[in-house]
Amino acid sequence: MSCFSIRLATAADLSAINDIYNHYVLTSTCTYQLEPETLEARTIWFEQHSRDTHPITVATVEKEVVGCGALSPFRPRAAYRHSVEASVYLRHDVHRRGIGKALLLDLIARAKSAGHHTLIGGASADQTASLKLQESLGFQRIGCLREVGYKFGRWLDVVYSQLML
Ligand SMILES: CC(C)(COP(=O)(O)OP(=O)(O)OC[C@H]1O[C@@H](n2cnc3c(N)ncnc32)[C@H](O)[C@@H]1OP(=O)(O)O)[C@@H](O)C(=O)NCCC(=O)NCCS
Repeated sequence: MSCFSIRLATAADLSAINDIYNHYVLTSTCTYQLEPETLEARTIWFEQHSRDTHPITVATVEKEVVGCGALSPFRPRAAYRHSVEASVYLRHDVHRRGIGKALLLDLIARAKSAGHHTLIGGASADQTASLKLQESLGFQRIGCLREVGYKFGRWLDVVYSQLML
């Protein structure tokens, strides 16, 4: 698994991206989505991400998609246009091999070259992997919103972290 590459995603990757992501919809608090993403919704999401300013990336091993990343607008209002939110999802069977970190590092580089000003990471407070990953790349914890999510029968806090670019 040491030999992986990262590239911009194409429409042909969307089904693999959904397979990776929907595993977490059903099993994890790392996403607050409750129902699996459809391919139609994923396609709209893809089309709304400009490759120059809000790229979607994939990590591949021997051409197989094993992870994905995205820079998304932090908020829709125009004055937020230089702020982006990063998300990274690894296929559940390839964790702890450095791929998530490589995807996030690549997103940081893309955010800088797109001229963004700050990168924001939101993570459920119980998601140690996500929080440690952000911390390892210099994100600073800004605050915690208490009990804003409810999944699997319990309230969830969200931690916001930020990297100034
Ligand atoms: C978070 C996630 C992307 C990390 O990807 P990964 O490839 O497993 O992580 P890496 O191997 O690149 O690890 C990089 C660093 O992150 C931290 N980390 C990753 N997984 C961790 C875990 N389970 N526990 C503690 N720290 C962890 C460590 O600091 C690690 O560095 P180290 O291995 O030198 O200790 C992956 O666990 C994942 O896809 N989780 C589900 C989706 C998710 O939570 N995404 C983030 C929300 S957008």
